[in-house]
Amino acid sequence: MQDAIRKMLKERNAVMLAHNYQPPEIQDLADMCGDSLELSIRAADTDAEVIVFCGVHFMAESASILSPDKTVLLPRSEAGCPMADMITAEALQARKRELPDMPVVTYVNSPATVKALSTICCTSANALEVVESLDADELLMTPDRNLARNTAKRTDKKIHLWDGCCPIHDRLTAADVEAVRKAHPDAVFMAHPECRPEVIEMADAALSTSGMIRFAGESDATEFIVGTEVGLIYPLAQKYPGKTFYPASDKMICPDMKVITPKDILTCLQEMSGQVKVPEEIRVPALAAVERMIALSR
Ligand code: 13P
Ligand code: SF4
Repeated sequence: MQDAIRKMLKERNAVMLAHNYQPPEIQDLADMCGDSLELSIRAADTDAEVIVFCGVHFMAESASILSPDKTVLLPRSEAGCPMADMITAEALQARKRELPDMPVVTYVNSPATVKALSTICCTSANALEVVESLDADELLMTPDRNLARNTAKRTDKKIHLWDGCCPIHDRLTAADVEAVRKAHPDAVFMAHPECRPEVIEMADAALSTSGMIRFAGESDATEFIVGTEVGLIYPLAQKYPGKTFYPASDKMICPDMKVITPKDILTCLQEMSGQVKVPEEIRVPALAAVERMIALSR
């Protein structure tokens, strides 16, 4: 199966990307692993004609936004993100009408149609920098209320919340953290900013998935509690065999991140099925919001 996939990737001049939460067999097959935005940015820089995105729908959309001339394939169309589904363009338009005029900051884990209505995008790693860059004292942050609350604690600006969340990260409670810390008293606790504020308060570091991979490599510690989707344990253990990684909770499994199999990848390459293409009238304003964010880190 692996050989057949590599052969088809070559035949189609395709690059295979896998998010850090994908199952081990998918990460092992991929040309690049990483967080959603860094994968899309790196894929745009390749001369591949086809991008096979092993992740969820909003990630394939981001790849399409940044690479309009490439064909983007999502091997299983039902791989979605419950948080991205907690907002729609219509609902955002209605909320904007209720609020005074203010910028809208939208987390990349969102539909392209919502990015298109936003002032600027953010990731879990740069949310504070994005908020601070705005020439406004008040803003609306969508769709993750936890990322918004965690950012609000670190800025003087007033952040209006959208009532969405990642059900997988929101599931981690302070009691879970107390229990896992008791079991591993010497471990450093890394938490993802999609976790609840009370969990982030207990963390030694709040980091995106790729941020956790870098941090674990740079830290002198040898034991870590990983406060994000359990799939991240695999790349951490692969990269740092001398260190030990404990899941903060074994409840933190994202079913949408586990649906794609090697067989699905082969089939989508053979049939060129599962294409995700953001229409130009949405892509152009969505790209503007993404590029405003990217420009901040240049
Ligand atoms: P990052 O990989 O950008 O940290 O995002 C986490 C996540 O929940 C992706 O779905
Ligand atoms: Fe969405 Fe959360 Fe799954 Fe990431 S882990 S895809 S944010 S539901």
